[in-house]
Amino acid sequence: MPRRIDWSRGNAESFRPHRLRHFVACSSFRASARFRAATTVQTRGRGSMRGVSLWFVATGSVFVTLGMLGGIAMAVSSDHTLAPAHAHLNLVGWVTMALFGIYYHLVPAAADTRLARVHYTIATAGVLAMVPGIILAALERDELLVAVGSLLTLGSMLIFVFTVFRHRA
Ligand code: HEM
Ligand code: HEM
Repeated sequence: MPRRIDWSRGNAESFRPHRLRHFVACSSFRASARFRAATTVQTRGRGSMRGVSLWFVATGSVFVTLGMLGGIAMAVSSDHTLAPAHAHLNLVGWVTMALFGIYYHLVPAAADTRLARVHYTIATAGVLAMVPGIILAALERDELLVAVGSLLTLGSMLIFVFTVFRHRA
């Protein structure tokens, strides 16, 4: 039988410093547990990521690693000609892709669809065409690839807009 403490007896005789410490520790623990419960987002797979969500975040993290290497190369060389390629590799290839991945992680019904896999393919193809395309355009070589990449990137965003509205509460 667990020992119960009667907190209602607050007179000087029953006051014990260790009880006060216990009370403070318990209530702050309960408050932090309530805070955690209120702020914790339900995740699938107990904190792990899979499927389209994982593909988006993993691919984006590879893109940003390449983008950082490019950024360091630019900083070292003091030649910022390719800054737009670096900017879009990081922002379209990482920030946007990671946001898609997190969205699909939070909305499993949207992730478990063929459209989500098509979305991943078009978004990735968009970055893979757009970034080299920006390099070619910046070097005044060719503008076709950047046009194709831009349209694929736009297409990927339109799929996302459709998905967000389709899976609204
Ligand atoms: C190791 C990491 C990075 C390095 C060394 C780096 C370096 C650089 C350099 C040298 C520039 C050219 C600045 C200029 O021409 O004014 C630049 C531009 C830029 N970087 Fe990075 N960068 C890094 C990571 C990132 C990341 C992670 C992002 C985004 C998530 C990012 C976004 C941008 C953007 C948007 C620009 C264009 C800014 C503008 O044109 O005003 N960079 N970066
Ligand atoms: C179809 C998609 C997109 C197209 C066609 C596009 C096109 C462009 C163009 C033509 C510029 C000017 C580059 C220059 O001055 O040399 C630019 C700059 C910029 N864009 Fe985009 N963009 C797209 C998507 C995005 C997205 C999704 C983001 C952010 C998430 C973004 C962030 C930026 C930033 C920060 C700059 C200034 C950086 C710089 O000048 O280097 N763009 N974009």
